[in-house]
Amino acid sequence: MSIKLIGPFRQLVTLRQLPKKGPLKDEQLEIISEGGLVVQDEKILAVGKFDQLKSEYANQEVSYELLEGDFIGLPGLVDAHTHICFGGSRAMDFAARNAGKTYLEIAGEGGGIWSTVKHTRAATQQQLTAKMSTRMDRLLANGVTTVEAKSGYGLAPDQELKMLRAIKNAGANHKMDVVATCLAAHIIPKDIQGGEQEYLLQILEEIVPVVQKENLCRRFDIFTEQSAFSVDGSREYLKKLKALGFDLTVHGDQFTPGGSGVAIDCGALSVDHLEASGDAEIKALAASEVIPVALPGASLGLGCPFTPARKLLDLGCSLAIASDWNPGSAPQGDLLTQASILATFEKLSTTEVFAGITFRAAAALGLSDRGRLAVGMLADCVAFPGTDYREILYLQGSLKPVRVWKGGEVVVGNH
Ligand code: NIG
Ligand code: FE
Repeated sequence: MSIKLIGPFRQLVTLRQLPKKGPLKDEQLEIISEGGLVVQDEKILAVGKFDQLKSEYANQEVSYELLEGDFIGLPGLVDAHTHICFGGSRAMDFAARNAGKTYLEIAGEGGGIWSTVKHTRAATQQQLTAKMSTRMDRLLANGVTTVEAKSGYGLAPDQELKMLRAIKNAGANHKMDVVATCLAAHIIPKDIQGGEQEYLLQILEEIVPVVQKENLCRRFDIFTEQSAFSVDGSREYLKKLKALGFDLTVHGDQFTPGGSGVAIDCGALSVDHLEASGDAEIKALAASEVIPVALPGASLGLGCPFTPARKLLDLGCSLAIASDWNPGSAPQGDLLTQASILATFEKLSTTEVFAGITFRAAAALGLSDRGRLAVGMLADCVAFPGTDYREILYLQGSLKPVRVWKGGEVVVGNH
């Protein structure tokens, strides 16, 4: 494929030299003024000053994508935790919560996740793909070039497989990359014979072999919580999946601590939520390679405390930030808005937030080929209008991308 030079960006924010763990200061941010990117075969060939790159590549056949106006370039955003494959709405849960009921009370009365299960079961695979694709269009327009998407509203083998096939098809037919995760262990279905043990065994015996045969996903998730799956049951289940070669992630410490320890014991890539994590959990995470993922959209949706992001970073953890877009706890789905709000409440630097929605989020998905503007990385990039990178979080998501590239190709915006 031919070589393309893109630029000049007033500011090109590369994130290329930043560490995976620990706090980050804005002084550490590499900003190339009047920067440019050279791309070939979906990858970045060179990063630097636009004029310098122009002369370096003068003797080669190069096409130019000239940016006229003020562009701030960042790596394409990575939303590492979503539930964007679902049917129905949970507006009634929202109203009930605001009238005084808790998330867990609503779930106990047959609303909550179970109500989305009923709507998702009633939808066809094609309908789910279509709904998910529309949501992905919005994510891409907001600068997200890689999204994770979970099953978990089927809660029976045929229904979970329907969801995973819908997710696979949505990914195959969209410009953005989709990382699928099986969350069959979301809650114990209300219509199953037996309890936790029987259901987890059913997943292992009836879902996993089909997932492997059809290559539906490489990751498994579980909701470890008093209202969902026990610590011991979660650990045993995840260890079996690990032995089969799957990547793991855990919904943990959302209302009560427990899930983060499971994630550490099982060598999970990430543990997501952590609103209820205390010092002991945070210290244990800092000593591990598990990436904590904050989900501010769920805190905003439920009116709950935020994940202790500042403390996680200060004690030496990594920190990814994801939208958790789902119909129940996090219906808003705008990663940049949520990450900006988390920054104001948790006193995060712009660099910590940028890292959390790019390369640290990619690491939470086990991906090291994206999230930084560096040689050899995928040429996924998002440009915002302006001349000062701080405008992006300051405007809390109201500043929208002017252009988005996936693998060097313009997928949002004109040129
Ligand atoms: O990440 N906590 C569990 N699962 C989702 C909520 C799903 C739902 O309420 O539909 C979450 O918040
Ligand atoms: Fe979630």
